[in-house]
Amino acid sequence: MAMYTMVTDAITQYTGLSPAAFFTISAMMVVVYKVVSGMFVAADDYMAVKREQEYVQREPVQVGNITEDELRPYNGSDPSKPLLMAIKGKIYDVSRSRMFYGPGGPYALFAGRDASRALALMSFEASDLTGNIEGLSASELEVLEDWEAKFEEKYVKVGQLVSEETTSTGVTQDQTKVE
Ligand code: HEM
Repeated sequence: MAMYTMVTDAITQYTGLSPAAFFTISAMMVVVYKVVSGMFVAADDYMAVKREQEYVQREPVQVGNITEDELRPYNGSDPSKPLLMAIKGKIYDVSRSRMFYGPGGPYALFAGRDASRALALMSFEASDLTGNIEGLSASELEVLEDWEAKFEEKYVKVGQLVSEETTSTGVTQDQTKVE
């Protein structure tokens, strides 16, 4: 109790305020500080938010007819490139779902690929990361169609996968495939 009296006496002596007024003013100052500091963000956070917005807001760019090998670099490894993914040869810009398909995302493995077989089979196996849908059952093909409908609705189609021989330039390319 002596301690309490000593503190309240000291407050009154040094500030000229009653202890109740002193604590009320102190609490208000803390609240004002919290509110004002909450209006600002750390520079790093700001830059991260800006980068994310730039990525999301970038308009989809048409890539035309490209091969599977040419699609590969659009897998998020180069942040200046959009994130692309193909279903049944149709290439979609999935950049707006960077949290799914970007590096570290749960579906990052699909980016830069035709993921038709993996989606039809609901598989994450590397061997299913292909546009080859041979031998799939009717129900698996139906699953794939559902994915295709979802992508048609949600994303912009920006190109078409073509085999190595028939690229947009019409130039016959190296036939050897790098898997
Ligand atoms: C434990 C199993 C799984 C769970 C709990 C799960 C959960 C989810 C959730 C919550 C979403 C977000 C949906 C949205 O907001 O639109 C999502 C999206 C997605 N899932 Fe799964 N998932 C699972 C398995 C799979 C499998 C096996 C595949 C394919 C191999 C898959 C492919 C996808 C794809 C491609 C998207 C993104 C679709 C888009 O771009 O909007 N998921 N999943």
